Amino acid sequence: MKVGKLVPLCGVSDVASGCALRAECGGSVYAVFNVEGAIHVTQDECTHGPGSLSEGYVLDDEVECPFHQGRFHIASGRATFAPATEPLKVWKVQIIDGKVCIDPAEHEA
Ligand code: FES
Repeated sequence: MKVGKLVPLCGVSDVASGCALRAECGGSVYAVFNVEGAIHVTQDECTHGPGSLSEGYVLDDEVECPFHQGRFHIASGRATFAPATEPLKVWKVQIIDGKVCIDPAEHEA
């Protein structure tokens, strides 16, 4: 795993509980989720197709893709309902000064 710099995606207070937010950074698009106060970051694009998961439906600890209704466990990225089968990339979140921060290089080889 490569280690890079932490970058802020948004403020913690920008994402209400049970909601998601789209965040762009360095040419990549992320989905920031608030699951009952716990913040998680995944890739925004569904692994099954062009669905944007930040526009999906948060159902407890899962997100349903708005395109074909595949589902993912938000914290782990695991696909939980067809037609989604491939997991999402998830980033480790650090909250610094009220900002949601990740290291975008975490998934680079
Ligand atoms: S694009 Fe997300 S389930 Fe098909």
